[in-house]
Amino acid sequence: MARADFQTLPGTRDLLEPESGRVRRLVARFATEAELAGFGQIVPPMFEDVGVFTRLGEASDVVSKELYSFEDKGGRAIALRPEFTASVCRAFAEQRPVVPWKTWYSGPNFRYDKPQKGRYRQFDQVGAEVIGSQDPDVDVELISLAWRFYQRLGLPDVVLLLNSLGDFAQRPAYLAALRTHFEANAADLSEQSQATMAVNPLRVLDSKRRQDGPVVAEAPLMLDYLSDDAAAAFDRVQRGLKAVGVPYELAPRLVRGLDYYTRTTFEFVSSGLDAAQTAVGGGGRYDGLIEALGGPPEPGVGFALGVDRTLLACDAAGVFGPADTSVDVWVVATTEGTEALELVEELRAAGIRADRSYDGRSMKAQMKASNRSGAAIALIVGEDEAAAGTVSVRTLRGEGRQTPVERRQVIEKVRSLL
Ligand code: HAM
Repeated sequence: MARADFQTLPGTRDLLEPESGRVRRLVARFATEAELAGFGQIVPPMFEDVGVFTRLGEASDVVSKELYSFEDKGGRAIALRPEFTASVCRAFAEQRPVVPWKTWYSGPNFRYDKPQKGRYRQFDQVGAEVIGSQDPDVDVELISLAWRFYQRLGLPDVVLLLNSLGDFAQRPAYLAALRTHFEANAADLSEQSQATMAVNPLRVLDSKRRQDGPVVAEAPLMLDYLSDDAAAAFDRVQRGLKAVGVPYELAPRLVRGLDYYTRTTFEFVSSGLDAAQTAVGGGGRYDGLIEALGGPPEPGVGFALGVDRTLLACDAAGVFGPADTSVDVWVVATTEGTEALELVEELRAAGIRADRSYDGRSMKAQMKASNRSGAAIALIVGEDEAAAGTVSVRTLRGEGRQTPVERRQVIEKVRSLL
């Protein structure tokens, strides 16, 4: 095939049916779950003042390396959103909805990351956030919402990893202990981790490099540094998850790619994905973020699920396949008149999925197209039918019976056959 003048950029894709239909159905499923739990939708803009995102913390790759930021024609420094949480917090600070504010979202995000399977520069998320409550029950209900969503998709192998990163007040003592440990063992760490250690020692815990394994395994744990309050809250989250039957694994070294997390943090991983990309979703508390964006000191908690990766996990598990998008009726007409046009329009107006061929194709070519279309019924109008004021109704599955029907009774007949 000849190459087109332009191709999609690295890390971006065209989604055509049936994949695009799967995304649509997946988002609809998520919307149903979120609405069952009292969440209303937010549709924030896809680009914001770059500050909305840089205040997430410059130590994370998402902010320091992967932002699509540029100056617009008005001289404003803006960025395409790399995630929704910052926009939701900015919207909260700006709009001040009544708390607790429960909101869900879906749409594309942009990160200048190294593209590979399951990692794209434009990728979709669905997610939910609750702003204005410290109640650990909120953490549990959010996790349970995501869990129910995965269960209803039929994904069998999703595992919930759970940790607490405590409050910011305890963070310096913990970071100091981490740094001491990593410095003492620097010689055994990879070069990358030695560099990361100086900027953000927490991220070293997330290293997947084999060489770092033994040093990371011996590193001090945030769970040992939790305040009494944070420890009690974490205990309540765990009791709540047990009470509602959501299984979890404690993951005391779990840190996330963004820096705003406090207290409960979690990730959903799927063994159906490649080792580097096992996270199908994640989230946690971010009790200081709204204030950092100039809003009131309200706490927040939420999660986002990667749509593309969730669908890859569905593929691996053989669940949530593409839906049948074929039409019900294919109209075949070889007259010079407007029969085909009138029939498809009448069918569609009656709520029956209908399509046809164009460009005056032969009867044979049109019948071939009708068979290929997956339609259950073909309506055929040749010169004979046109003269007699009838339409031949042919069933395309099974035996393939054909009967003439009065033109004005076609819709009724089609309905009786579907
Ligand atoms: P995140 O872990 O950066 O968290 O992203 C959530 C999910 O989005 C990931 O688990 C993954 O499935 C998907 N994802 C992330 N980057 C890519 C990519 N480059 N290509 C494909 N999929 C990707 C957040 O975004 C937070 N805002 C979650 C949150 C909400 N925390 C609190 N509230």
